Amino acid sequence: MPKTIPPADGRKKTEKTASSSSAAKAAARNTDSGPSKVNPDSGGDTHVEKMTQTEALVAAMPFNATKPAEHGYANAISPRQGATVEPASRLPTGSTLSEENSSDKTGTIAPEGVNATIEPLDRVRVDSSGQMLTTNQGVAVADNQNSLKFGLRGPALLEDFVLREKITHFDHERIPERIVHARGSGAHGYFECYQPLTQYTKAAPFQEAGKVTPVFVRFSTVAGERGSKDTARDVRGFAVKFYTDEGNWDLVGNNIPVFFIQDAMKFPDLVHAVKPEPHHGMPQAGSAHDTFWDFVSLMPESTHMLMWVMSDRAIPRSFATMQGFGVHSFRFVNDAGESVFVKFHWNPMAGTHSLVWDEAVKISGADPDFHRRDLWERIEAGAYPEYELGVQIFTEEQAEQFSFDILDATKIIPEELIPVQPVGRMVLNRNPDNFFSETEQVAFCTAHVLPGIDFSNDPLLAGRIHSYVDTQISRLGGPNFHEIPINSPIAPVHNNQRDGMHRQAIHRGRVSYEPNSLAGGCPFQAGAGQGFVTVPARLQAQEEQAKVRGKPEKFADHYTQATLFYESQTPAEKAHIAAAFRFELSKVTVPAIRQRTVSMLRNASEALAQKVAEGLGMDALPDAMPLALAQPAKPEVTVSPPLSLMARPGDGRIKARKIALLVAPGVMGESMAQVQAALLAEDAVPRLVAPHIGSVATAEGGTLDADASLENEPGFLFDALVLPDGQAAVDALALDGHTMEFIKDQYRHGKTILALGASSALLEKAGIPATLPDGKPDAGLIMAPLGSAADAAATFIKGIALHRHPARETDPPRV
Ligand code: HEM
Repeated sequence: MPKTIPPADGRKKTEKTASSSSAAKAAARNTDSGPSKVNPDSGGDTHVEKMTQTEALVAAMPFNATKPAEHGYANAISPRQGATVEPASRLPTGSTLSEENSSDKTGTIAPEGVNATIEPLDRVRVDSSGQMLTTNQGVAVADNQNSLKFGLRGPALLEDFVLREKITHFDHERIPERIVHARGSGAHGYFECYQPLTQYTKAAPFQEAGKVTPVFVRFSTVAGERGSKDTARDVRGFAVKFYTDEGNWDLVGNNIPVFFIQDAMKFPDLVHAVKPEPHHGMPQAGSAHDTFWDFVSLMPESTHMLMWVMSDRAIPRSFATMQGFGVHSFRFVNDAGESVFVKFHWNPMAGTHSLVWDEAVKISGADPDFHRRDLWERIEAGAYPEYELGVQIFTEEQAEQFSFDILDATKIIPEELIPVQPVGRMVLNRNPDNFFSETEQVAFCTAHVLPGIDFSNDPLLAGRIHSYVDTQISRLGGPNFHEIPINSPIAPVHNNQRDGMHRQAIHRGRVSYEPNSLAGGCPFQAGAGQGFVTVPARLQAQEEQAKVRGKPEKFADHYTQATLFYESQTPAEKAHIAAAFRFELSKVTVPAIRQRTVSMLRNASEALAQKVAEGLGMDALPDAMPLALAQPAKPEVTVSPPLSLMARPGDGRIKARKIALLVAPGVMGESMAQVQAALLAEDAVPRLVAPHIGSVATAEGGTLDADASLENEPGFLFDALVLPDGQAAVDALALDGHTMEFIKDQYRHGKTILALGASSALLEKAGIPATLPDGKPDAGLIMAPLGSAADAAATFIKGIALHRHPARETDPPRV
């Protein structure tokens, strides 16, 4: 980088013009011609000095010294740093000689080498405490209640610039929503590296143990519109923007490690199929309709993804309890330019926990913001969501041996084949101050990589590299959205891009091209030493030199990994997958689409196909769909336990879990208080729920203050339930139909229930079976006789940590 350039010597001497020739002074003041020779004696005249220094700067670069390095293979893979010349002062590179005349608005001269548009978000934070209301022009508004009228009962006047500015801004408050992933929630946080990964990558976040990189994360659903429900059955976006000291890196992933399609060419078709049908605009945020199943059943490569989407992965309990995946194979590149392939995994410390379908459907009505609220409340409570980043690293040679193609986004690499190594952790510890400015305006892009991270030839990834910036140009109103504060990097930004809608940067100087000599060559090409260099050799293929539209042969194995996923699930998970196919396909109006889907499923699992067919009232199984590849390669593994949600129970903590403590007048307050205290000590969120909010008299003569009601917080919104001791309270609750629904939902959804003392009568009244379907005791039903509340609370907490008791489930449900 160039050294700090001295300020212009001549600045203060503009009055001392004695020894400079009048001709030089006159010439230096022209902007449309120049002398044949520059007179080096400025005589203290700033104009002449600028002309002289400009001449010297340009003359120092008599030719483009880096031109020869633009040719040949060796140069192509290791570009040189651009040539620069240091100017004698800052005088020749400035836009103007008047830049030192400052005001409250202009400030002073641009600080050297600084692009202030990328300063920390502090520069745009606004706090109006103690301030007067103003217009956007900073004019104080005397009256914000009335429009300007001709007389108190007279007509409103066009002259009212205060009203017109306010209404005009309001009229334009909305921007287009994202084409996909419109519904989302975001948070700030940081990534911390465990140990240097310099052997594999020079990427900035992985260079030192303990290195911290700020991040912004946005979680999303895919199909629904911006105001749609959080708990739709859908893939969740898991997009992370790393603000590294070498530029922004966006890891734009999902909570499912595979995708429906293998080539970007099919993405618009997929999205058109899943979005609301165009004739009537239904259904919102749902794949249970004809066009989706018509499309996917004609695209057998989607079978693997369909298994994941029909599993409970697609209805997570919380953003804090789901995994994230980069999906595609990427590359790590080290300082020596050597590269390996890498797949990225985010594993939640709180474990992987999901909803069940009946629960998700009910939540979507009672709290469409369920995930957004959960994320917000966890962060406000200090129960920060935390994820470990894991990588699967493998070589090109290993990749060639796999039974599947690592460029195929419908395939995973089983962890048994390439283990997932933990490399760091991410903590989300700050909510946005403003949803629109941060979460809505953030723009992720798979093209945002940095030195040390590169792409594979995955054809789906290639389409994405183009798509995001392209769509953001219209979503965010022009090409300058990188300057929106949430998007700007913390690394320096200097280039010759100029103008366009909403430009904020005010560039000093007259140079906006490269090569140049008028700005001493700056900003100069970084070269291979510091800049991003694409890995020259990507996966070799025999046909590499031909222009083709086609797929490699292994892409045609559409079912092996769908089978792997299904066979790796627990019995309860398998049952949920079958139920989800049954539900979704039952919503399809064309029986032939169901038939086709089941014929496709037969190639993945006969047992699953059979179960789905029965649930759809099919008399006989349709023939299996013909295979695109008659003899797929033998898979390396046929069962992979980490593919089950049960493989990651979490750290045993119950922080941020919401627990309902039902209360009514006559409740035994002391036992309830003991349970409440035990839950609070675990950083859980116990809520007192009564028939209506307000004070509830306890049997001991005290009061409890219920902040939730059976009506405003129904049972399915909670992770667990405590029923109260105290006969009067039990009698009162037994008379309320909401109580029965509350208990039944808790039971049906597999939640842990603690019944204190007399409240076991409520379980009986709700028809809750005392034992599991196989006659064994139900570990999720805890009865606490009088005086045992404290001990029972400990068992209760262990039960909550399991999240759910699937052994209770039957299809159809008993309760
Ligand atoms: C060729 C295939 C794909 C195309 C063309 C595509 C295109 C898009 C577009 C246009 C957006 C909206 C961006 C915006 O307005 O800011 C988007 C968002 C997103 N896409 Fe894709 N996508 C593709 C595949 C995928 C895949 C495979 C994944 C997961 C690995 C994915 C993850 C995401 C995420 C997480 C977002 C939301 C980002 C945010 O929170 O703002 N997409 N995609």
